[in-house]
Amino acid sequence: MSISIPRGTQDILPGDVELWQQIENKARELCKKYQYQEIRTPIFEHTELFSRGVGDTTDIVQKEMYTFDDRGGRSMTLRPEGTASAVRAFVEKKMFGLAKQPVKLYYMGPMFRYERPQSGRFRQFVQFGVEALGSNDPAIDAEVISLAMNLYKEMGLQKLKLIINSLGDKESRLAHREALIHHFQPRIGEFCSDCQKRLEKNPLRILDCKVDRDHELMKTAPSIIDYLNDESKAYFDKVQKYLTLLDIPFEVDANLVRGLDYYNHTAFEIMSDAEGFGAITTLCGGGRYNGLAEELGGPETPGIGFALSIERLIAALKAEGIETDVNEGIDCYLAALGEDAKDYTVGLLQQLRSAGFSAERDYLNRKIKGQFKAADRLNAKFVAVLGDDELKKNVINVKDMATGEQVEVALESLVDYFRKLQQQ
Ligand code: HAM
Repeated sequence: MSISIPRGTQDILPGDVELWQQIENKARELCKKYQYQEIRTPIFEHTELFSRGVGDTTDIVQKEMYTFDDRGGRSMTLRPEGTASAVRAFVEKKMFGLAKQPVKLYYMGPMFRYERPQSGRFRQFVQFGVEALGSNDPAIDAEVISLAMNLYKEMGLQKLKLIINSLGDKESRLAHREALIHHFQPRIGEFCSDCQKRLEKNPLRILDCKVDRDHELMKTAPSIIDYLNDESKAYFDKVQKYLTLLDIPFEVDANLVRGLDYYNHTAFEIMSDAEGFGAITTLCGGGRYNGLAEELGGPETPGIGFALSIERLIAALKAEGIETDVNEGIDCYLAALGEDAKDYTVGLLQQLRSAGFSAERDYLNRKIKGQFKAADRLNAKFVAVLGDDELKKNVINVKDMATGEQVEVALESLVDYFRKLQQQ
């Protein structure tokens, strides 16, 4: 019996992986421009990190984590997201003491959530995320948002919608919490058992419930916007001012609460507006999490970041019909006729590769026609043909596959010949 891939995971095969690499390279380039540095944290962490960081009333912690006991009996969890790990490392490695502040980090790697797989929703997916720790300047909120928007724009996406909200500071959230309890309490019996538990523990989570989404009380629930104190309002105004200054259009959506507990002040999501994108349109989510470092045992540190999955970015490219073929081809295919010539190409191939060219030869004992076909499949710019006769004369025939032009080049100057072409 053959063994199949686990549900909700993907094999990314050659031919598709090039697009992934292109996106990853773009993300890294952007981070360099914006001065975010990479952090690599473990794929698994102590379960407590997520129950405390992400919040134990969230769907992620309650229903979606891959949790297991290791052989030492400790509860471990495959990371469902990257923020908790980044902040744990920030605290544990005392990065708050670094000379370079704020600390601006990025990460790229697999995350794991036991969700119901559907288009755009996987059990293993790759997040690219950034976290800026140590600054309370609303300008950095706008910077973080603009980094995400720029990645999408540089990949060619146009149908994007940015929605933002403010969840306010502690005082504002407490006032809102009271209002939510007051609103839901009389009819909480009509809600799912999760929501009943959430009422006292974290009523904001009720607004995020997938089961009771359509209950009429959801539509009339008090909005956080009406409970923001002056300070929170002023902060949110500044974020909006900076986004406008950066020419980033946005909509304020008072219903945006996000599915993780650590947020306060700015919360945002970037959605795809492309037709036929499917039911899940959120490409990227993020927000501010002042207080998370403290929660994880560190000093009081403001923080903001986002994460987006490469899977959804690729889905959005497809939905917008953006050309994603990134087959660059190779510089040279060495075709050989005759035993001596074939032997010779082993060393010649190595010379080309050492000089920095991408090159390939035949390994299947193909006839010359088959070798040209193979060169075509590899999208070779040049095919250099070596027969035993040429070998005796110390020359090789180089064919430019775009023009059809052929030239005879001295064998020992083949590498130089390509170098000169490259400089033109
Ligand atoms: P999140 O909203 O849970 O936030 O996830 C962020 C992004 O990860 C989503 O917008 C989506 O692109 C992608 N994503 C989430 N679940 C899946 C899935 N099952 N399949 C495919 N893609 C998925 C966070 O993870 C926060 N840590 C973001 C953050 C960073 N906030 C502050 N800093």
